[in-house]
Parts: sequence; C-alpha cells; structure tokens
Amino acid sequence: MEHSHQEHNHHQHQRQQQPSSLQQGIRQEPGQQREGRSHFLERPDQGVPDDVDVSDATAGYSHGHLHDHGHNHGHSHREGSRRVDNYDSDDDEDFDEEEALHFHKIIKAFSQYKATAMYANHRRRTDFYTLPERQQKMLPSYLERMEKVDAAIEDNYEIIKMICEDQQIFVNDDRPMVKLGLNEKAKNAAALRIRQQDMEKVQGTIKQFVRDWSEGGKPEREAIYQPLLQELKSRFSSITPENRGSINVLVPGSGLGRLAFDIAHEGFSAQGNEFSYYMLLASNFILNKTSRVNQFKIYPYIHSFSNIIKAEDVLTEAWIPDVNPSEIPRGTDFSMVAGDFLEVYGQEEENIGKWDAIVSCFFIDTAKNIVDYLETIHKILKKGGVWINAGPLLWHFENTANEISIELSLEEVVELAKTIGFRFEAQGTSKSTYMANPHGMLKYVYECATWTAVKI
Ligand SMILES: C[S@@+](CC[C@H](N)C(=O)[O-])C[C@H]1O[C@@H](n2cnc3c(N)ncnc32)[C@H](O)[C@@H]1O
Repeated sequence: MEHSHQEHNHHQHQRQQQPSSLQQGIRQEPGQQREGRSHFLERPDQGVPDDVDVSDATAGYSHGHLHDHGHNHGHSHREGSRRVDNYDSDDDEDFDEEEALHFHKIIKAFSQYKATAMYANHRRRTDFYTLPERQQKMLPSYLERMEKVDAAIEDNYEIIKMICEDQQIFVNDDRPMVKLGLNEKAKNAAALRIRQQDMEKVQGTIKQFVRDWSEGGKPEREAIYQPLLQELKSRFSSITPENRGSINVLVPGSGLGRLAFDIAHEGFSAQGNEFSYYMLLASNFILNKTSRVNQFKIYPYIHSFSNIIKAEDVLTEAWIPDVNPSEIPRGTDFSMVAGDFLEVYGQEEENIGKWDAIVSCFFIDTAKNIVDYLETIHKILKKGGVWINAGPLLWHFENTANEISIELSLEEVVELAKTIGFRFEAQGTSKSTYMANPHGMLKYVYECATWTAVKI
C-alpha cells in the first residue's frame, strides 16, 4: 500500500482492498511522508461506524454542555456505535455509504466553522446595538473586541482549511447523494444536517490542539501524560533507550496523538488508535503537515465569552506545534490506526498477545460496555504485559438514548479487571484538568484514578 513506508506495519494493510476515495481522505500522500512521521492505517472493513443522533447522545450528560469541563466534547458519540457482531459483509456497500456520509458530515461541519462563528459574533454585535445609546457609551471597547474576534475566526479558519485540504472534494460535491431515491435523499440530507453540537466539536478540536500540541497545554500534559510516560519507562527500565523500539505500546483513544508521540519520542514503538474523524483529521494535520515548532497560530477561546477575567483573554492565542512532530528517533515505529478500538483490536488474531504495554488516558470511560474494553485490553496484551491507565470515570454514554451504558464505580472497575486476569501493582490518583482555559473562571479538576496492572 502506498501509504506505508515502514516495513513492520505492512501486516496491517495486507488484507485491504483498493481504498475508496474516502479512505484516501485520511491517508497521507506518499510525498508528504518523512522519516519519523506518523502514518495512518485505515480499515476499510471496520472503520468509523454508523450514525446515531448526536443531539440525543450528548443531551443526557450530567454536565453535557460543552465548555472546558467535560472531556467528552470534541468526540463524536455516534462513532463506535456499529458493532462487528452486527456486521455483515453483504452490507459492504451500505456500510461504505454510511461511512462516506458520516465523513462528509464532519468535513461539512469543519467547513461551516467560519460562517457559524461569524454569525455568533455578529449576534453579539446586534445585541449590543439594541442597548440604548447611553448604555453603549458605557462599554466603549465592546465592539472593538468583536472586530478582533472576527479576525481571529478568519485565522482559525485558515487552519481548518488546511486540516480539510485533501478532503475538500467532499464538500463540493453531492457524492453521497447521487443515485439515491427521493426518500433516501431526504434521509441523507437529515444525516448531513449540521447542528450546534457538531460545531462545538469543531471548536473542541481547536481547543484540543492546546492540550496536546501547544506550550499552553504543558501543565495538563505534565499532570497526566508525564506520569504515564515515567511509569512506562520505569516498567521497561531494563531495556536501553536504543532498544525500546522492540517494545510495542498501544494508546487507545489517542485524541490528537501527543501521548502516543511522546511515547515514540522516548524510543518505544507506539501506535495510537482513534475513531473520531475530527481527531483523525486534526492529528493528521499536526503530525504530517507541520514542519517546524510554532508554525501556526490558533485562537482556541474566542467561541465563548463566559467566565473570562480580562476582555483580551478570549483572544489568547496558542502556537502549534510546540515540538516538531517529525523528531522521533530513527527506526522508531509510530503509527495511528483509525477505527473503533473493540473492532480494530478485539477481532483480529494478529493482535492477541501482541502488545507489551497499553497506555490509556481519559479513555476507558468512553466504553458502552466496560467489560468489553477490559477483556480486549487483557486479550491483546502479552502475558506479563502492562496496562498503565489514568483518567476519571465520566461514563460517556450515561443517560444516552438508545445506547447501552454500564457505569461502574472505580472499585468495581478494579475488581472487574482483577476478575478478568490483571494483577494491580500500583494505584493512585492524579489531579488534572481537561482542555481547561487557563485564564477562565471555570475549571473542572478531575481527581483521576491511576494504575498499573499486569496481565497474569
Ligand atoms: C476523552 S478523549 C481522550 C483523548 C486523549 N487520550 C487525551 O487524553 O487527550 C477520548 C478519546 O477516545 C476516542 N474514542 C472513544 N471511543 C473510542 C473507541 N471505541 N475507539 C477508538 N477511539 C475512541 C474519542 O474519539 C476521544 O478522542
């Protein structure tokens, strides 16, 4: 396959057929690959699953509106809802079509960023004009701020265009709609309708860049990624850094890929797995389309004026990336695999007993069925392999219509893991925010559970 430049990952591709244009959308072009860059491995047969109404999916969250307090934002709950046991190869065409539709919708959401953000800002302006002139005069700089926010939206949109660069074709044509009957067209049009939640995911993706790839995200990364990394290194301290390439480390739910990158940067063979196209497109951009530190400027906090101390704080900028993503040691294998964790890793013989370590961060509570997650983690680890985890238990599907959700306490999760065959060797807690605005008056602090468990 043209997109793999590293021998040892070829097995991931061997069974794939000629990719559709959809898969080409995620794949990086051969010319863009550089030594040490991550590469994306797509899974035509098991990729991102079908639609569930996101408005339902998010509505039920205990703290479901999307600012910097919930780590659910930015990630589509529709993704992951198709299960392999319902999967029938005769459905291939339908499945591809659904996936294409879903992908199309996400590109559409990105492409509508500027218009919707401008509209929201314009509303602030028109609201201001409803005030009596006397009151307007009391707020001399308010309108000026709107001008600056307009300009910042333009700047963000430039980044978004780059994120979607190779995918623009999907925005400009009706591919998912052609050759469909009237009813199906109506159904698809509904599936492609962009809602506020979708726009919040686009905005969440911009904020996620801060967490993973800017100087401003350092405190969050030091609070939660660093201890995971330290633990990984100490677990494999008998292996010299030059030989860490023989250690296979999987990072499920890898978001924008920084933790997986940091692990690869330390010399381990690291693979991130992620199923949200928002995340996949954005991490593809950062890992494969940036070439120097602080190359791009984004404005992550312009979308909400709530809980702001100084007016200029909404215009706080972040420069990305804070490190050069191509700087990983020679010979280190670093890849990102697109698809649902359970489907990609739980169903394939080749993954059984393959992994030396699994490092999960803010991930296990994305499970509908935590037992499936833990069984899969156990199954794919080598005997004696290590599972290093950190995160809260904000069950993503709690109170979500038409979805099962098994919501255990921390103690129950630990007991379950022991029942499945883990020995806990370390347990603790670690305080951390998630995509918090450093200047904001609202910060949710998670007292994350941390552990290291060994497969017996
Ligand atoms: C809360 S985020 C954490 C991201 C990253 N680990 C971090 O700490 O910033 C959870 C991530 O898991 C992804 N995810 C959720 N369920 C998944 C699944 N079944 N397979 C793969 N990725 C999944 C989401 O799309 C999201 O990016």
